[in-house]
Amino acid sequence: MDNRLADNLVRALPIVVVGHVDHGKSTLIGRVLHDTGSLPDGKVEQLRAVSQKRGLEFEWSFLLDALQIERDQGITVDITQTWFRTALRRYVVIDAPGHTEFLKNMVTGAAKADAALLVVDAAQGVTEQTRRHTYLLHLLGIGQVAVVVNKMDAVGYDHGQFWSVAEDITGYLTELGIVPTAIVPISAKQGDNISTRSAAMGWYQGPTVLEVLDGFAPKPTASEQSLRLPVQDLYRTEEKRVVVGRIESGRLRVGDTIRILPGGRSVRVAAIETWNRDTPQIAAAAGESVALRLDEEVFIERGSMITSGDTPMYEGQKLRARVFWLGREPLAEGQRLKLRLATAEHEVVVDAVERVIDVADFGHRSAAQVERNGVAEVVFRSRSTIVADSFANLPTTGRGVLAVDGRVSGGFIVDSVEPLAGRSSNTTQVAASVTVDERALVNGHRGGVIWLTGLSGAGKSTIAMAAQRRLFEAGRQVVVLDGDNLRHGLNGDLGFTPEDRKENVRRAAEVARLFADAGSLVFVSLISPYVADREGARQIAGGRFLEVFVRADVATCQARDPKGLYAKAATGEIKQFTGVSADYERPAAPDLVLDTDALTVEGSTDRLLAAIEATFVTRAATATRTAA
Ligand code: ADX
Repeated sequence: MDNRLADNLVRALPIVVVGHVDHGKSTLIGRVLHDTGSLPDGKVEQLRAVSQKRGLEFEWSFLLDALQIERDQGITVDITQTWFRTALRRYVVIDAPGHTEFLKNMVTGAAKADAALLVVDAAQGVTEQTRRHTYLLHLLGIGQVAVVVNKMDAVGYDHGQFWSVAEDITGYLTELGIVPTAIVPISAKQGDNISTRSAAMGWYQGPTVLEVLDGFAPKPTASEQSLRLPVQDLYRTEEKRVVVGRIESGRLRVGDTIRILPGGRSVRVAAIETWNRDTPQIAAAAGESVALRLDEEVFIERGSMITSGDTPMYEGQKLRARVFWLGREPLAEGQRLKLRLATAEHEVVVDAVERVIDVADFGHRSAAQVERNGVAEVVFRSRSTIVADSFANLPTTGRGVLAVDGRVSGGFIVDSVEPLAGRSSNTTQVAASVTVDERALVNGHRGGVIWLTGLSGAGKSTIAMAAQRRLFEAGRQVVVLDGDNLRHGLNGDLGFTPEDRKENVRRAAEVARLFADAGSLVFVSLISPYVADREGARQIAGGRFLEVFVRADVATCQARDPKGLYAKAATGEIKQFTGVSADYERPAAPDLVLDTDALTVEGSTDRLLAAIEATFVTRAATATRTAA
């Protein structure tokens, strides 16, 4: 037996059947159950007899009602599931007793359909309810949709009528970004185009309903999907650091290059640590918890996401989500809450409640708040960077929960995440009248941030000034932001506690970004002793960032002591002095290292300029400026 067949026997394809209440959903399901031989023996005959006795015409939908009643006498469950099978595979039709339960299950991930059949009545065409149900498919991120135009027998199997309905519904689906896999004219009641092609509609050459179902692609299993490993924890021993987490999707092998989000630094898996195992582990897949050793010490923390980088994830501060709200108090614009997604937790504020979906009929209206058991499209704003997938692509890293005062008060599925333009909701970015590309064209180089980090006295300012001079003379746009100078003005209110240094770095990075946006090469020379702060600066700079480690031994810096500060630090006159009484965290993977113990100022400057050339310069220098 080939793998696919074996797989199909184990896994059933979950589908939903949606559409206007009178357009024949139950009849269709009943007919499909019958045509695929999925009903208990004698069921149909029994119902036909009962109908006849009551003087009613037999309806296929009675079948579902009958099955439903039998089930209701058993245990009550949130989700009802009706099974059937074709020659290819098994199917499960997911439904729920009420709209609320249905939506709740879908939004929280208790139930997930891979595909949908949308039923439209040939005579009535697309109704308001059809639109709402179609919108529900969009809301749930179900992209695989086939349309069945039912009750063709009632319109005399008319081709023109079918076309007009088909056109209408395609138009609406397209608006929502859904391309139907097929549009099938059927009569569920008469059995046209369900399992066999209808003789009454010779004009239709497309697939039958069962062929359409068998044509749906099952969602890949978790381990077949892209790698997503949310970091749970970091453990550090004397000799090594291990990163711990559970693989939510995809697989991973020793030697793989992985990316760490936010930021996207690449690093290789050096080993998968194991306990109580004789043989070393070389690979792991979705569902396994692993402890990884990486080949470099990159910045990583609980909440970071490890990916393979083959399919990008969203990174940003503005999250658009569909929320199922369970909180006692309504969810309102301006409200602060905690958003948990995989192992990350973010403080967020509700930026906008864009639409509230009425669960009774799936209609939507605008409102500023979401009541308990309500569903809505909501935009959240976060200070920290949210890393996520769209729910439609990767459900496990595309959904999360919302918490108020530590209590889970709602679930959400991710629509999209965008970087935040302005941090305040009442500011918008003004469009630039000169673009980044235009500036680069005129300047012969792009703007960017060259971040020099290292101990006091290592030579950061000296190198920055020398490099600035040479670039200026070559006609480049260049600026230096020097820590000491900034501390005389912009950062005059800051001292040297870790918090103040963090803020010092943040402000310098924001200013550098403005200059870089204006086309300049910006040197920032700051001790910036902490990895996390420098990573923050890289993010603020938005990718155009070179981290340069200006390295010198503390002994060298002490000997140089250009400002006499090491002497003062030694006597304790200056407290928290970096390298003496405060930490300096060396960059784990800088873009460039300048070892000023070994290099001359000129040697360092040459290397720095070469790196800048390779990264930012688009046209060789032509203009030559000379000092006045
Ligand atoms: S940072 O750590 O916040 O990045 P920054 O580069 O702005 O530091 O300022 C460092 C400069 O401040 C040093 O070159 C030195 O002249 C001066 N300074 C004064 N006190 C300290 C201190 N406790 N630690 C480090 N530098 C200090």
